[in-house]
Amino acid sequence: MEVIIRPDAPAAADLVARILAADLRAKPDLVLGLATGRTMDLLYDRLAQMRLDFSHCHTFNLDEYVGLAPTDPRSYRASMNKALFDRVNINPDHTHVPNGLAPDLDAECLRYENLIAQSGGIDFQLLGIGQSGHIGFNEPLSALQSRTRVKALSPTTAAQNAAFFGGADKVPRRAITMGVGTIMESRRIVLLATGPGKAEIIAQAVEGPITAMISATALQLHRRCVVVVDNAAAAALKEQEYYRWIFDNEPEWEPFRRPSTL
Ligand code: F6R
Repeated sequence: MEVIIRPDAPAAADLVARILAADLRAKPDLVLGLATGRTMDLLYDRLAQMRLDFSHCHTFNLDEYVGLAPTDPRSYRASMNKALFDRVNINPDHTHVPNGLAPDLDAECLRYENLIAQSGGIDFQLLGIGQSGHIGFNEPLSALQSRTRVKALSPTTAAQNAAFFGGADKVPRRAITMGVGTIMESRRIVLLATGPGKAEIIAQAVEGPITAMISATALQLHRRCVVVVDNAAAAALKEQEYYRWIFDNEPEWEPFRRPSTL
């Protein structure tokens, strides 16, 4: 795992956009795993501005609420269409989000896993992190080898997403989510976290012991995972100085140290 610290949320989102753009240019048929949530808004704005060629790309979103239709503006399908898919040249048939209205949810989870496998697996998985330490909707005690399945959302997550539903008690209690094991099979993972509200959970996820109580700690075992944070989300990390040195000196990051051009 590597941790990269940028001064603020726009700079952190810009870096993730540039990492993703470089991978997409190198492999135009990239299989991209996508996340939703407030943290991703700046990133998707940036990707839309960059006018990248998504025409050969296939995407798989991490999760969807059970019981919400794809047309419901609070569904992750609708929010992805608005935040990214409608703004870039991706083929809508190449974009995949679990169907939260499927009559047989277990069959839907299996179908989703099979679809990822048939696409050759995920090349680049984008992640956020929840206050509960979840990646996707892998709430505390999610098995670190779990696959796509239905998961009950924790009270912490309901509180985190209450504003979208007009109260924590109105947030759907269940979601389909890729499992931790599914996520860990991605060839590359980039996690983006910004703001002071993420500082404590980022410190636990990155520098704490690996535990199923915080599914993001599994990322410590991944061979190619970068955690990109802003100063505020980095505030509780013990080894900040070391992480800053890496971005400022390691050759791998040299192209990304230069000022951004669209
Ligand atoms: C959503 C998802 C979640 C979010 C996380 C952070 O698809 O997978 O893990 O990334 O809850 O959400 P925000 O960015 O709203 O803080």
